[in-house]
Amino acid sequence: MGGMSTVITVLNPKGGVSKTVTSIFVATALARHGSVTVVDADPQASATEWAFTAEDAGAPLPFEVVPGSAATIRRALPRCDFVIIDTPPGVAEVLDAATEAADIVLIPTMQSSLELTRAWAALDAIDGTAAALFLARAETGSTTFGLSRAALQEAAGGSVYALETFIPKREAIRQVAGVSCPTALHGYDALVDEVLAILERQQHG
Ligand SMILES: Nc1ncnc2c1ncn2[C@@H]1O[C@H](COP(=O)(O)OP(=O)(O)OP(=O)(O)O)[C@@H](O)[C@H]1O
Ligand SMILES: [Mg+2]
Repeated sequence: MGGMSTVITVLNPKGGVSKTVTSIFVATALARHGSVTVVDADPQASATEWAFTAEDAGAPLPFEVVPGSAATIRRALPRCDFVIIDTPPGVAEVLDAATEAADIVLIPTMQSSLELTRAWAALDAIDGTAAALFLARAETGSTTFGLSRAALQEAAGGSVYALETFIPKREAIRQVAGVSCPTALHGYDALVDEVLAILERQQHG
């Protein structure tokens, strides 16, 4: 558990499934609720570079992005209301540390059986830590959308949640990603509300 801070780890061992976009958009939405720091545990430093680029453009992200490793996650997490940990694909040691530190693990997944297989692998790996699965880059018009939603619902139970909220595939998200401060949140605000409600129920239930 995260002590004074609520710690949300964004994790999926698969590459390119919207972990960094989710981390930055969730942090932007949470900045309306309290103080936020993003811990960038990815050696590729995508979140850190996103913050630099936004700052250079004169519209900084409304929170700090700091580098992190397995060791700093275990011993020196920032103190603020919300800590979001953006994790790299693979790298088991970082994923273990980021899972142990988390109040909840947020797992973005895309809508195909292959992608869902990776999400189930993530659930196995985090072994009992509260987890919230959601569809990122959703294409609501396609058959796999309905099938994937149903599969997520079916996987839910105990400490595993399937979020009602999904994030649509949007050109506007792609344009902001890595570059600038999100203005529109494209559903990440509703996603944050849902996650906060789960955390509240966990604390009182
Ligand atoms: N909802 C969305 N709509 C459209 N494009 C998106 C959406 N979410 C993410 N993307 C795009 O998908 C790509 C991958 O996203 P992102 O970098 O967040 O993935 P990641 O899981 O962090 O990748 P990595 O595993 O390499 O760290 C980016 O180019 C981003 O712009
Ligand atoms: Mg990333």
